Amino acid sequence: MRSIYIAGNWKMNKSPGEVDTFTEVLKERLQGIKLNNVIPAIFPPSVYLERCRRLLQDSPVRTGAQDVSRHASGAYTGEVSAAMLRSLGMVYSLVGHSERRQYHRESNKEVNEKAKVLLANYLTPVICIGELEEEREKGITKDVILQQLNESLNGIGAHQNIVIAYEPVWAIGTGKTATPEIAQEVHSFIREWLRNNYGKEKADKTSILYGGSIKSSNFSSLMAEEDIDGGLIGGASLDVESFIELIKIGVESRKQ
Ligand code: PGA
Repeated sequence: MRSIYIAGNWKMNKSPGEVDTFTEVLKERLQGIKLNNVIPAIFPPSVYLERCRRLLQDSPVRTGAQDVSRHASGAYTGEVSAAMLRSLGMVYSLVGHSERRQYHRESNKEVNEKAKVLLANYLTPVICIGELEEEREKGITKDVILQQLNESLNGIGAHQNIVIAYEPVWAIGTGKTATPEIAQEVHSFIREWLRNNYGKEKADKTSILYGGSIKSSNFSSLMAEEDIDGGLIGGASLDVESFIELIKIGVESRKQ
């Protein structure tokens, strides 16, 4: 059975006090919920990683980073290494989020280097891919996804743990969610790529998350799709009640 991730990407939001309140409420409310194969995870700004991990330590909620340096160590002002994340007890990090690709010009090659440095430090990369609006309009979505997969996962072996997040860029923070059919079509394309490159067993057990304007009103229908194994959630993960609602939808989804 694949793991279902309900992953909250907080981006550059929240004060320390808000982090404390959110984690306290989340921890308490999850006590009454049987999660089965659902993994709730929070990806806070790096300055809160330690705080979140500590506050959530007796809970099923995992904490992960939003980004990592592709370098192991050295003169890279402002960057955080995979070994440093590991030393904080992190087990996940996002790589290649479209905001990193867009505002920091991150290429697939760089995303690939980041994924590899995480794997070398026993962290699981959550590798984000997705097409731009103009690429969808031109009908080249699958070409873009194929190139992102080929280049971002280059040299990563079938034995290594990865999570993929499909986030159509036009759906992020815009309120325009992909329809379940559109998302499923790309997810099944990604699953087929995994099958062709890593074999059936690996393809069957790799979680592929959808991201882009998820909210409780659209999440159930997305989760009903065969190849959607959870969500990477921005805006709707900032409010604890809405995040809990999304976790409950994950738990109630057909995969239980
Ligand atoms: P959104 O962000 O849910 O606010 O669209 C998703 C993401 O960027 O991961």
